[in-house]
Amino acid sequence: MNILLIGSGGRESAFAWKLHQSPLLEKLYISPGNPGTEQFGTNVNIDIDNIEELVGFITKSNIEMVIIGPEEPLVNGIYDKLKTLLPKLKIIGPSKRGAMLEGSKAYAKEFMKEFGIPTADYKVFNKQQKEDAFHFIDTIKTPIVIKADGLAGGKGVIITEDKDQAKKDIADIFDGKFGSAGDNVIIEEFLDGVEYSVFVITDSKSYKMLPIAKDYKRVGLADTGLNTGGMGAISPVSFINDDLLIKTVVKIIQPTISGIWQKDIDYKGFIFFGLTNVNGDPYVIEYNCRMGDPESEVVFPRLKNDLVKLLNSLYTNDISEHTIEHESNYAVTVMLTSSNYPENYETGKEIKNLDKIEDSIIFHAGTKKEDGKILTNGGRVLTVTSLAKKKEDALLQSLKNANLIDFDNKYFRDDIGFDVE
Ligand code: AMP
Ligand code: GLY
Repeated sequence: MNILLIGSGGRESAFAWKLHQSPLLEKLYISPGNPGTEQFGTNVNIDIDNIEELVGFITKSNIEMVIIGPEEPLVNGIYDKLKTLLPKLKIIGPSKRGAMLEGSKAYAKEFMKEFGIPTADYKVFNKQQKEDAFHFIDTIKTPIVIKADGLAGGKGVIITEDKDQAKKDIADIFDGKFGSAGDNVIIEEFLDGVEYSVFVITDSKSYKMLPIAKDYKRVGLADTGLNTGGMGAISPVSFINDDLLIKTVVKIIQPTISGIWQKDIDYKGFIFFGLTNVNGDPYVIEYNCRMGDPESEVVFPRLKNDLVKLLNSLYTNDISEHTIEHESNYAVTVMLTSSNYPENYETGKEIKNLDKIEDSIIFHAGTKKEDGKILTNGGRVLTVTSLAKKKEDALLQSLKNANLIDFDNKYFRDDIGFDVE
């Protein structure tokens, strides 16, 4: 089977690495990809907003399956456009309606309310209701959680103890800080818990759960400092005991899939449940309509199944006949970033010693190739994944290689997994 993978980050590097292992794969194309994905397929540069160009490439290259890595094209309806023009194409990712679970936080909240799925209490306000929003702030407890409704590149959530600051933030959002993503604002209750990331693949009716992971979003040691796209991840997650796992399945995953089915949403892809464990009970923080990053960089290395076969089953109605098999080892990934990320940082630094890495997997995130050299090309540059029986050994192995890889202004956290056993 020929496959086209859309995206260019660490997640797509992990997809490419995993897809490449499948005997069912013939040719893998990645658009636009990065020097990491290039090791496992052919990078191509398709303007995916130009549907004629995209359909032209798919037809010319005999592509049978298209996997959409990031959320933005899904929220913009790439599934629906491709489905209309190429009804036989196997598209991995939800329809535009399904992607709204990530694309509109207000929609996701209504969905959860309708199907009785535990999440923080909330209220939605539009621009005309700014004064009502301010009044609501006066009546609720702190910390206050404020969210822009639409996609804001992971920056649309503000948590504050200060009510005046909360009002200022709301005014800024309504004034266009996040563009039209901030036309509506959600104010919600703060959930005090430990977060974890659950992934399923679904065909809108049945589902299979992939290994559970935890990502480390704060830039500083011991989860301090600014929020980032993710500084590392670990899988499995030791605090998920049988009780929490059963509650996660029964209270969250099953009613979500059932809701998708009841609402007749066409969904053939991944659902990423961002959950938090509040005193032994799971709550949904957010839905994402795609795999996580950097969670993919620990989930795929632990998944023993053939990913092409699994994804194909979403189109052959036999997903329930598959048994998901996990590597029992721990996987830990450590993200190497440009220093000062997530604020202003420099790029274009040469990355050395990649050829010296042993016993870890390197996934490229923000890199580029120029004159045969690999250069930094983003805040998150590379991630180093290692597997071992003990999480400490997996971490140490990743740290050893993180130290060996050399580029100017390199930074990484050396405590990934510090808060789990
Ligand atoms: P997001 O950008 O939607 O991934 O949210 C960013 C982060 O904000 C989440 O990973 C949580 O750490 C935090 N967050 C979002 N909603 C809540 C909430 N209701 N209570 C506590 N923390 C939250
Ligand atoms: N790791 C969080 C995300 O992918 O959004």
